[in-house]
Amino acid sequence: MYFVVEHQEKALQQTILVTGGAGFIGSNFVLQSVGSGDRVINLDKLTYAGNLENLQQIRSHPDHVFVRGGIEDNDVVGQLLAKFRPTAVVNFAAESHVDRSIHGPEEFVLTNLLGTFRILDTCLKHWRTLKGQARDSFRFLQVSTDEVYGSLSADEPGFREQTPYSPNSPYSASKAGADHLVRAYFHTYGMPVLTTNCSNNYGPFQFPEKLIPLMILNALEGRSLPVYGDGLNVRDWLYVEDHCEAIALVLEKGRPGETYNVGGESEKTNLEVVDVICTILDELHVVSAPHRNLIQYVQDRPGHDRRYAIDCSKLKQELGWQQRETFATGIRKTVAWYLSHQQWIKNIHSAEYRKWIDTNYAGRNANCEA
Ligand code: NAD
Ligand code: DAU
Repeated sequence: MYFVVEHQEKALQQTILVTGGAGFIGSNFVLQSVGSGDRVINLDKLTYAGNLENLQQIRSHPDHVFVRGGIEDNDVVGQLLAKFRPTAVVNFAAESHVDRSIHGPEEFVLTNLLGTFRILDTCLKHWRTLKGQARDSFRFLQVSTDEVYGSLSADEPGFREQTPYSPNSPYSASKAGADHLVRAYFHTYGMPVLTTNCSNNYGPFQFPEKLIPLMILNALEGRSLPVYGDGLNVRDWLYVEDHCEAIALVLEKGRPGETYNVGGESEKTNLEVVDVICTILDELHVVSAPHRNLIQYVQDRPGHDRRYAIDCSKLKQELGWQQRETFATGIRKTVAWYLSHQQWIKNIHSAEYRKWIDTNYAGRNANCEA
């Protein structure tokens, strides 16, 4: 069992409208929120990345209401706001995979930019109808990414909240546009918004198109481990539950109009990440040859950002947040989770997934120069 979802009696139960709550981070957040006694209205379109199995533990929980729909649908969002009168909206819904944004950017503009605009605008209309305490305490939280800041060289300091935006992929450009709209709704209309910019997450329920679950699943199946370019691109890794706790804290204590960077303070090259996964698998899933023999260098991602690093001192100092997991503890839990969730993995292996793997990897010939 992952989270123990017990109903905790809270003095004041919050109702939160969560979007994208059947995806990776969203479902972790929903489980955590319901587990802590909140009521969650979960709006998710159930694209290829949305998976109701992630929410199995709270399938018939009275404090979880699932609604299939898109953030771009003003009517549905307006009805949910009027009916459930949430104190906060947390917008996770997005197209989230950089490689997919390179193959097909339009969906990213539609959901991440236009979709965020629509839900933001519907929330503004709703917020304007509120009075007194309900109006003062309402929050719209935009879940964003460190990728909007662009790429760092090896010796530059980590991204701060003041770092100018410089997105390089269609994914990060669409997220950056959405963040600007969120910011503008605070400055123009006084709407109480918050933005979090987080680094790479990993943990249970992550769709296996992203580096860590892809490597774990490929290794378990004895398939090659495709490392882009020279494998020396650097990412900062944060265990997903730590990210969810940061979001809950920003909702509770963050100052409207502010942005908060969230990070693991755990920079690793991609090769280091793959190597750690192989070491853990050699121990937990014994096969005749070391898993690292499966590593294959393949053609790089176009426009591949070299390094991300986050300075999250504002979140730590102002709101008292702290990561609970180190990369060493979090990655071990994550590998163990995938090993013990074979049925979840089997169900993910849809025709759509196979098609994506062909689309993304068939053209990447093994790169002998790396
Ligand atoms: P994900 O791809 O796993 O999940 C996205 C969810 O959004 C899915 O359940 C999908 O069905 C849903 N969705 C897509 N379009 C929708 C729409 N139009 N309306 C309603 N629902 C829709 O994504 P994730 O990795 O969980 O990321 C969640 C959010 O966090 C995204 O906004 C992403 O940009 C941001 N983020 C992700 C990371 C990371 O490392 N994964 C890091 C920082 C920030
Ligand atoms: O930084 C936060 C971002 O992290 C989020 O906003 C995105 O939603 C999330 O997808 C993630 O983006 P990345 O592009 O960093 O994640 P991804 O897992 O796709 O890749 C991590 C690194 O691993 C990156 O340098 C590319 C590399 N990679 C990835 C895949 C899928 C490989 O070398 N081989 C692969 O097969």
